[in-house]
Amino acid sequence: MENPILDFLYLVCIILFIIGLKRLSHPDTAKKGNMIAGFGMGAAILITMFYPMENESNNYLWIVGGLILGGIIGFTAAKKVKMTAMPEMVSLFNGLGGACSMLIAAVEFYNLPEGTPMMSTEVLTIIFALFVGSIAFTGSIVAWGKLDGFLRDSLVLPAPQVINIIMLVAVLVLSGFIMVQPELNFTLVIILLIVCLVYGITFVTPIGGGDMPVVISLLNSFTGIAAAGAGLIYGNQVMIVGGIIVGASGTILTVLMCQAMNRSLFNVIIGGFSGSGSSSGSDREQVVKEASHSDTAIQLKYSNKVMVVPGYGLAVAQAQHICHDLEKALENEGVEVKYAIHPVAGRMPGHMNVLLAEADVPYPKLLELEEANEQMSTTDMVLVIGANDVVNPAAKEDTGSPIYGMPILDVELAGTVIVLKRSMRPGYAGIENPLFFGEKTKMLFGDAKDSLGKLKEEVGNA
Ligand code: TAP
Repeated sequence: MENPILDFLYLVCIILFIIGLKRLSHPDTAKKGNMIAGFGMGAAILITMFYPMENESNNYLWIVGGLILGGIIGFTAAKKVKMTAMPEMVSLFNGLGGACSMLIAAVEFYNLPEGTPMMSTEVLTIIFALFVGSIAFTGSIVAWGKLDGFLRDSLVLPAPQVINIIMLVAVLVLSGFIMVQPELNFTLVIILLIVCLVYGITFVTPIGGGDMPVVISLLNSFTGIAAAGAGLIYGNQVMIVGGIIVGASGTILTVLMCQAMNRSLFNVIIGGFSGSGSSSGSDREQVVKEASHSDTAIQLKYSNKVMVVPGYGLAVAQAQHICHDLEKALENEGVEVKYAIHPVAGRMPGHMNVLLAEADVPYPKLLELEEANEQMSTTDMVLVIGANDVVNPAAKEDTGSPIYGMPILDVELAGTVIVLKRSMRPGYAGIENPLFFGEKTKMLFGDAKDSLGKLKEEVGNA
């Protein structure tokens, strides 16, 4: 169905996706980038409506109904979601994207005209979209369940690797079997669909909670690839390009996250993380030194340079605004304040950047891991706010630790380390942190928002 004007408009939408994506790569331009890409997607949907429909024009009723219903649900969910629950939402939406590709593939197989050769690119594309889409669907739903807590990490399948290899072989054999049939066989396609749905579940179930964001990113790239496959079925350029962009960016993000945790993707997929490793706790009697708000405030005020290390606890406490207030109070006293951002601090990529941007912390104050580590030895005080694993020296020293090899922020190189958290409980990886017993370390127990509020007040009074 050639239509040069509509095709040209599609090209404009594709350009908008790319400009949007480019702008998403910097916090200053990210909001606009998101809007540009969203506008491009909205326009692509509208333009698609103008392509002539082959039969039944009353399909418009279904399409518009679906758009309104989906739009309302999406808008309300996005408005209501808490920042800390963002990975769950991404996972759920991602699963729905996979489900769309899967259903499109199933319907298009059903609609193939009699006599379509089974050994054709058309059938291969449909099977591909069905396979990838259904894995992305059930895999994302399991990931959502794990992140949300209604599916437990302890829910493990016996010999998961063996099960997954059997499932993968079953999918490939069944796909091949469908393609060598003399004629279209919809029953076999339904069986393939069920096997793929089960494979999505067995694929994600053994993966530990700490690795979930990596898996979500991987599933996200699957959804993109499935959407590109669905686009191929229709010969729809905007679906193909959109799918490829999602697939490629999801893959790049997956690789970057694995690098930041010093894990191979294979290691993530076979599921060996999340506190399952044995970190050797020390046999020595370990003493924790407690800090008081007033002493910490005085020490902060008389520092030349302070480095803030934000972590997941900052997000839980929603302490980003008060943290920025403390930073301004210290700067009024002539103290230089910087933020050390670990690439996997928090629970999603860029979590800390988003939180701090929300509180209007100027972007140049945010240092990446390497840059922050270079400045640690010239820093007088480090405030570790609700961070744990990303400052755990076990990652460098304890070969038995599940986080061994992960690059960390070398806070112990600074003059003094103050850790703001509520208890001695471990972080996401579920392991003890020797930093808390270190000579230079003092613990300031309490909710991060309360503690920062008190510190700010004391800095003003001191
Ligand atoms: P965590 O190691 O998870 O530690 C967070 C700490 O915050 C906890 O020890 C907790 O201690 C404290 N906390 C919670 N609520 C608090 C509150 N209201 N006030 C003060 N403290 C509070 O966090 P992290 O250092 O940011 O490390 C992130 C972890 O997630 C890493 O293991 C990383 O590999 C994993 N992960 C992240 C990502 C991405 S993309 N960000 C992806 C995969 C995995 P208390 O309970 O004692 O307060």
